[in-house]
Amino acid sequence: MESPIPDYLRELLDRCTGNEQGAVADYIPELARANPDRLGIAMTTVEGATYTVGDADIDFSIQSISKPFTYGLALSDAGFDAVLSKIGVEPSGDAFNEISLEEVTGKPFNPMINAGAITAHSLVNGADSEARVERIREHFSALAGRELSFDEAVNSSEFDTAHRNLAIGYMLKTVGILEGDPVDVVRGYIRQCSLNVTARDLSIMAATLANGGVQPNTGERLFWPSAVRQALSVMLTCGMYDAAGDWMSVVGIPAKSGVAGGLIGVLPGQIGIAVFSPKLDDHGNSVRGVKLFERLSRDMGLHLM
Ligand code: DON
Repeated sequence: MESPIPDYLRELLDRCTGNEQGAVADYIPELARANPDRLGIAMTTVEGATYTVGDADIDFSIQSISKPFTYGLALSDAGFDAVLSKIGVEPSGDAFNEISLEEVTGKPFNPMINAGAITAHSLVNGADSEARVERIREHFSALAGRELSFDEAVNSSEFDTAHRNLAIGYMLKTVGILEGDPVDVVRGYIRQCSLNVTARDLSIMAATLANGGVQPNTGERLFWPSAVRQALSVMLTCGMYDAAGDWMSVVGIPAKSGVAGGLIGVLPGQIGIAVFSPKLDDHGNSVRGVKLFERLSRDMGLHLM
């Protein structure tokens, strides 16, 4: 029997197509050139079945959706103690690019905001910045099940205008959180954010988290369950930034958004879901992506509670 899932996803997509709210990100000039009408959705089960509808095979830069995966890699490479001594796990309630540290501990609040993500990037194994970036690219490729490459235009456009992230890098260096050259680390972090993915790729990467760290198609173990649990925990509390509370009460699953319009959700033990639609709300989350997840959660009973 044919699966009813594609028909359902098509219906869902059609219902969201008319939503014209939000605007494409423009603080990275190259992202302002994105086609605002794109809309795609992909779902991958822990058994490895993938369902897609709409623009699910269009490349876009992963941006902040890279953060939980790099955090998982840092936990594997540097160990929990080293990572937790440098990056907190508390929601900040601030925007993703806030220049902030926790008052008491002096650490970045969590690995989903830029300060924590830049720190997590610095904790991935690699003799230099280039080696670290290549380790991340290879790991993400194994997660997606295909060779991923960089969007060079997005990468240089972001680095050319990276004053805020450079300020964060210097702040982290000043307080002793970052080792090495802060410009090098920020350059590597921005490169990590410029890896191209599709909604299909992201749904498989999300399904790997849903599957306890084992890639559902290749059977390769890419994260230990303890790292997956830690990454999903911070996605649940901090993945949607200053909209995390709304997201938790309405959608109710661990999630992560990116400024190119990607959005992933993970239902542990069951499914990874990814949506792509470039217009963003004020928090930097995809407007149609959030709407789609709200409907999905309601229709499919995804909420963890
Ligand atoms: O560091 C930045 O500003 C971007 N490379 C990533 C930000 C991002 O995706 C925020 N998420 N919605």
